[in-house]
Amino acid sequence: MLTWDANLYLQFANERTQPSLDLVARIAVSHPQRIIDLGCGPGNSTQILRRHWSKADIIGLDNSPEMIAAASKAYPEGKWVLADVATWTADARFDIVFSNATLHWVPNHAALFPHLLEQVAPHGVLAVQMPVHFQSPVHQLMYEIADDPAWRQKMHRAKNALVNEKPSFYYDVLQPKVSRIDIWETEYNHIMDSPDSIVQWISGTGLRPFLEALELEEQKLQFQEMLRAGVTRAYPRQKDGRILFPFRRLFIVAYR
Ligand SMILES: C[S@@+](CC[C@H](N)C(=O)[O-])C[C@H]1O[C@@H](n2cnc3c(N)ncnc32)[C@H](O)[C@@H]1O
Repeated sequence: MLTWDANLYLQFANERTQPSLDLVARIAVSHPQRIIDLGCGPGNSTQILRRHWSKADIIGLDNSPEMIAAASKAYPEGKWVLADVATWTADARFDIVFSNATLHWVPNHAALFPHLLEQVAPHGVLAVQMPVHFQSPVHQLMYEIADDPAWRQKMHRAKNALVNEKPSFYYDVLQPKVSRIDIWETEYNHIMDSPDSIVQWISGTGLRPFLEALELEEQKLQFQEMLRAGVTRAYPRQKDGRILFPFRRLFIVAYR
């Protein structure tokens, strides 16, 4: 299982939390009583839910002990559960099953999404956001660098670590089982200070499987250095010296 670093992840807390706010704004469920945040990470997305539905019983679930420890430290009043989304089943159904920036790490969406919908109470909602920026220069660079003969043999798992399905796939999987479904994409333009900031951003998430595939510290540094050089070429500076980092995300809100 991948290890996570809550501090590194939270270096871009505002940018990473904005999609949760945008997703919450589109959920039309009045007075939900039970809410679960799947892949709650350090608790940032769960806190958005708590602010929005302050009377609801809200649980944050994650399979990373590091992330659950960070969430319980930051929000000791919260309810935190260490569990794997891939095998999770609710003991009682939830009015909102919410997941921000997590399910792309969990395989087999043809089975996972219907299963998650079954954990939603009647008239409740499954609300999901996942990054879909696989065509972005930084992702393409990671795949290209992973093909370097120095480590190509070790990269199969890393290259397939993230699920990448189209909106039409989710529509077909969910539509027969729901009363309404909204699907949309948003491309955020994050404003970064330097190419290093982009590498740091991706080091907190998508780069992790590639680095974990390498045993030697020296190779990890070499991979990061090659990525930094590629990012410097691929993302031009604006007139004020900063860099726009376009980041595309897919949103799904499915009502039972
Ligand atoms: C990118 S973070 C998202 C954190 C938070 N939801 C947010 O909005 O910023 C992804 C989280 O998903 C968790 N995760 C990945 N695979 C998981 C799984 N199979 N079961 C539970 N959590 C998982 C990771 O541990 C990590 O905390």
